[in-house]
Amino acid sequence: MKIKSSEFVISAVSPKQYPDEGLPEIALAGRSNVGKSSLINKMLLRKNLARTSSQPGKTQQLNYYRINEELFFVDVPGYGYAKVSKSEREAWGRMIEKYMTEREPLRLVLQLVDLRHPPTALDVSMYEWLSHYDIPICVVGTKADKLTKNQMPKHAKIVRETLGMPKSQPLVLFSSETGMGRDELWSIIEQAADL
Ligand code: GTP
Ligand code: MG
Repeated sequence: MKIKSSEFVISAVSPKQYPDEGLPEIALAGRSNVGKSSLINKMLLRKNLARTSSQPGKTQQLNYYRINEELFFVDVPGYGYAKVSKSEREAWGRMIEKYMTEREPLRLVLQLVDLRHPPTALDVSMYEWLSHYDIPICVVGTKADKLTKNQMPKHAKIVRETLGMPKSQPLVLFSSETGMGRDELWSIIEQAADL
């Protein structure tokens, strides 16, 4: 994918604000700090387009980025912040649930997990929930640069087993530092978005 343009569009706090251009959407899900915004920046070869230190508590915004007038990346606030209140967590859940199950242009959810550690219980529930609704998922193992080449297969296996991924589903090993996995992920996105 050749990036001709990429721009921030809106931090949407309600569905009324979601863009209505009909472009395919690729959403990112994953716990807070897993590397969602960094992945967006790496995919777009931008240093700081997606803010990489979003504030805890701002749990209800979907950040839209438009790429080449062809598709949107949707950066979803991370789950698992210890400090977020119960009511905020519930509001987050309702917003995500509605977006993921009802958003017509949504083509693919990139579910990010930290490759260094086994997926958390929240990662597993998110994965099971998306699978249950037949929402197309691509699991991405982030921060691969923190592992040696030798460690990677073992960690990949633990991610696959903990999530219960079918063999046919790809697990992309990714690094926002080195660009590892970038080409593979673009080809998966292009296919999902029919580009
Ligand atoms: P929230 O927006 O809070 O949900 O977090 P996020 O998932 O967007 O994570 P973000 O991209 O802000 O990254 C969190 C931290 O991890 C930052 O300090 C990044 O520099 C670091 N990080 C992200 N991706 C990588 C990676 O591939 N390798 C390494 N070494 N560090 C990474
Ligand atoms: Mg972020």
